[in-house]
Amino acid sequence: MKATAVAHPNIALVKYWGKRDERLILPHQSSLSVTLGPLSVTTTVEFSVERGEDFVELNGRVAEGTERKRVVEALKLVRADAKQALKAKLGAARMVSKGDFPASAGLASSAAAFAALAVAARAAAGFARDVKAESILARRGSGSASRSIEGGFVRWNRGRRPDGKDSFAEQLFDEAHWPDLRLLVGMVSREEKEVKSRDGMRSTVDTSPYYPAWAKDAEVEVKGIVRHLERRDLEAVGETAERNAWRMHATALGANPPLCYLKPETLGVIQACRELRRQGVGVWFTLDAGPNPVLLTSAKDEERAAELVRAHGASEVVRCHPGGDARLVAQHLS
Ligand code: PMV
Repeated sequence: MKATAVAHPNIALVKYWGKRDERLILPHQSSLSVTLGPLSVTTTVEFSVERGEDFVELNGRVAEGTERKRVVEALKLVRADAKQALKAKLGAARMVSKGDFPASAGLASSAAAFAALAVAARAAAGFARDVKAESILARRGSGSASRSIEGGFVRWNRGRRPDGKDSFAEQLFDEAHWPDLRLLVGMVSREEKEVKSRDGMRSTVDTSPYYPAWAKDAEVEVKGIVRHLERRDLEAVGETAERNAWRMHATALGANPPLCYLKPETLGVIQACRELRRQGVGVWFTLDAGPNPVLLTSAKDEERAAELVRAHGASEVVRCHPGGDARLVAQHLS
């Protein structure tokens, strides 16, 4: 009745932006990401009939409000799915989760957290490993978490079914496919973003006239980037990732009221990337719904890329590479 899992966050190269079903967290378009090592979140889940209600602790503090609610909902789904014989034995859960990188790092720690939760909670409830079921469960916590169950390069297929059973992520290439790839998060701002992804997406879908074009284009870009990834073509992958990030921000800027996640420092880094490329350094950027750019480069240009973001006010540079699958571990958190 107790299990612990470790999962990595991910960075999307073709972003997910906009839901067609808010409750089931079903996207309007497919997306594609790379799982990020060495960063990780570890989560322990223990079910016990002795416990009255679910207990949720995130990074050393007891979770409340929406944060707690999202975890409790996921635990409820696990209990509902458990075999009849086990159901009565499950009771309430104690869930403890800890990340080895700051939640404010600009990376979606929630992706790694819900992926680790999905793997640990299902194992604690007696399920055998099943990456598809885990991806679907993680998706219900946070859409991008569906892409953190497997390592390497992962595509979240949009799916067509209204019940979401065909909307899960699958690995296209594992982390050994492209060990030379580097992803550097430049922390130009640690401010909490004004509009959370969830609200920003909703507002974009509802009010941006560019939204249908965004969704259609992203689907096409996912197909194209798979071919570039297969060939480990950094230039083509970088160009696609940049173009897609711009288009996501363009559709968000088209919302009413407009959503602008960029800071002056962000633009500074973006321009410096272009300049470095003119000098022959292979470095491209992507940008989630926040001001901190993530640079795509190779091991040989990693130092130049790190210098670039530091020169533009980054207080910290988090260096990542393609990471592995979410996995069960023997060492529990508590
Ligand atoms: O899964 P959420 O609700 O944290 O949304 C993630 C949205 C982006 O990070 C902007 C894009 C993505 O595909 O990860």
